[in-house]
Amino acid sequence: VSAFAPTNIALIKYWGKRNQELNLPITNSLSFALPVGTTTSLSSHQDHDVVTLNGTLQGHDSAFTKRLVNFVNKFRPHNSFLKIDTVNQIPTAAGLASSASGFAALTLAMNELFNWKRSPHELSIIARQGSGSACRSLFSGFVEWHKGSQDNGEDSFAEPLNILWPEFKMGLWIFSEKEKPIDSRKAMQQTVATSPLFSAWPEIVASDLAKMRQALIEHNFSQVGEIAEHNALSMHAMMMGATPPILYWLKESVEAMHQVWRLRKTGVEVYFTMDAGPNLKLIYLEETKPLLQRLLPHANLILF
Ligand code: DP6
Repeated sequence: VSAFAPTNIALIKYWGKRNQELNLPITNSLSFALPVGTTTSLSSHQDHDVVTLNGTLQGHDSAFTKRLVNFVNKFRPHNSFLKIDTVNQIPTAAGLASSASGFAALTLAMNELFNWKRSPHELSIIARQGSGSACRSLFSGFVEWHKGSQDNGEDSFAEPLNILWPEFKMGLWIFSEKEKPIDSRKAMQQTVATSPLFSAWPEIVASDLAKMRQALIEHNFSQVGEIAEHNALSMHAMMMGATPPILYWLKESVEAMHQVWRLRKTGVEVYFTMDAGPNLKLIYLEETKPLLQRLLPHANLILF
């Protein structure tokens, strides 16, 4: 069987867990799905698991294999072995949220192979246990992840928002496809444990989220962009406050932020968000895409 799930990029970020094992978040978050993602193929295998990534066999002891196998072990029938083939349309581990689409596609494929017939809501709860943000990749468009309050995580799932906005786009501005210096899982833990700025985060998210929902309903593009930038920069500020400090930005990242702000001053409606990596994600309307390509001719852009 084979299943596809989209990459999602958060407009309101998930950063901080109340349960590490189940990936239960401290706050809600809200994302937008890209038209690209991960396709995962799954088949039964004789006596051991086989894992490939973009066509390359992964060792049994590799971090990638271990993470997938730990996840499927929670859900598969005993004594069943699998061949898991993951194909990403965008680079793995460059802060481009490939684990989200990967675990969501794997969850959808398991639903098929094991004939679970579970609903997207139930699958979201399962995918979350592979990677928190994966629970949002079960859906397209704008999606909110409800943090939930139960200890078992049964009320922590994502749900699509009823917002149709076909002109709304997000793209990538890539400076580096290298593995990040610290993975988001560790960085998140370190932030919660050591950053004195973390105590302000739940309130920042609650306020940004309420404004974001309203701006999305009204299709108020500049509001959406401003809130998204504010939320991302607040998340990075609190990471910088951790001990030792976490700084994903490269000098290119900072230059690009200034470039986005300069473009806005000249009337080009473009905004950015950033995740656990140095690359920028651009937020724009469809009509602005040709202008961005013309005004940023030397940038490594993937615009949709
Ligand atoms: C910065 O979902 O990758 O992209 O639950 O530990 O697998 P784990 O973390 P992950 O974290 C994503 C963090 C983020 C923000 C977001 O997507 O909301």
